[in-house]
Amino acid sequence: MHQLFATRAARMKASEIRELLKLLGQPGIISFAGGIPDPALFPAEAFAHAFQQALGADSRAQALQYSVSEGYLPLREWIAGHMCRIGIDCGADDVLITSGSQQALDYLGKLFLSPGDTALVGWPTYLGALAAFNAYEPRFDQLRAGGNAGAAQYRAAAGPGAVKYAYLSPDFANPTGETVDRQGREALLDLAEELDCALIEDGAYQALRYDGQAIPPILALELAQKGDLQACRTIYCGSFSKTLSPGLRMGWVVAARPVIAQLVLMKQAADLHSATINQMAVNQVAQNCFDAHIPKVRATYRARRDAMLAALDRHMPEGAQWTRPEGGMFIWLTLPPGSDGAQLLARALETVKVAFVPGQAFHPDGSGGNTIRLSFSNSDEATIAEGIARLGAVLGG
Ligand SMILES: Cc1ncc(COP(=O)(O)O)c(C=O)c1O
Repeated sequence: MHQLFATRAARMKASEIRELLKLLGQPGIISFAGGIPDPALFPAEAFAHAFQQALGADSRAQALQYSVSEGYLPLREWIAGHMCRIGIDCGADDVLITSGSQQALDYLGKLFLSPGDTALVGWPTYLGALAAFNAYEPRFDQLRAGGNAGAAQYRAAAGPGAVKYAYLSPDFANPTGETVDRQGREALLDLAEELDCALIEDGAYQALRYDGQAIPPILALELAQKGDLQACRTIYCGSFSKTLSPGLRMGWVVAARPVIAQLVLMKQAADLHSATINQMAVNQVAQNCFDAHIPKVRATYRARRDAMLAALDRHMPEGAQWTRPEGGMFIWLTLPPGSDGAQLLARALETVKVAFVPGQAFHPDGSGGNTIRLSFSNSDEATIAEGIARLGAVLGG
């Protein structure tokens, strides 16, 4: 049968790391692997109430029915208000609801990439973005935020294909935890302008800032320059996964109307619309408790980040280096010279029952063998201290 598969299927590979990470279900494992929210933080009672209400006599016919591809209007209005509060002045018509921001990344790959076109991405970058884009058979080139590679170099390297977009998560990126400063964001806008390409801004972690000054989203900066969303080349992808719940699969896109219109056609063709009842429930919970809920999420993760940084300071050996993120869920560790992340994972699982994700998977060119991603979001402070101490022991720190 496999000889019948389209050429894109050959590019989709299960990773070896997955095999190792299957061991995570074993008792006693301390896992810093999954970049997932702590379920204790889900506003579960608020969702129970919201679903009950959606299924009440007045709204059940709507909640259980097909709905429009653009998304549930009250939720799009809430999102437009939220976007305005972070500096992106837009209306409900500029918003498309997607089934998680992952679906937006897939659609954007489908919209922009013909085989052989170039997508500029960080080295490393979010694995799910690489997987989504990869299906459209692009060529990946390294986006050097604030680097000196000019448009001409990117264009020359692209060969016969075109550079279609640059993708990045400017706030507390997955996997590095790093943030692009305002100057870096402006430089990226200049680069996109020079390349005449789109810029995909992944705001998945935007709301999870624990300290430091908020930096305007790239789309906000572009909007301030151009004064009109319809003239902007930045496409903003948002998500409720890291703030309210990932299980409901609720994300959104804000972009110029021609982009939104084309994405709506794609959504019609792919899944018609995101689950109506989930949109109604998320709208209720966002309206009633988003503002009160976010500070709790931030306080919890801030304490965990601090615990992990303190433990790393204490237990890591000479030569190891790591990021100090101002938000998000991840710390990126560069191992002492000569160490390999995948080998360390195998050893750490076997000897001290600690898991993390080796960094190589996040690099389209297979580099980054001496890096690892540590997630602090789903373990309490004592577990983090214990897990990092064990990891330090394996590393000989
Ligand atoms: C940077 C980034 N973007 C997007 C996503 C996808 O999130 P979702 O589809 O749940 O909105 C994730 C999930 O981990 C992520 O880390």
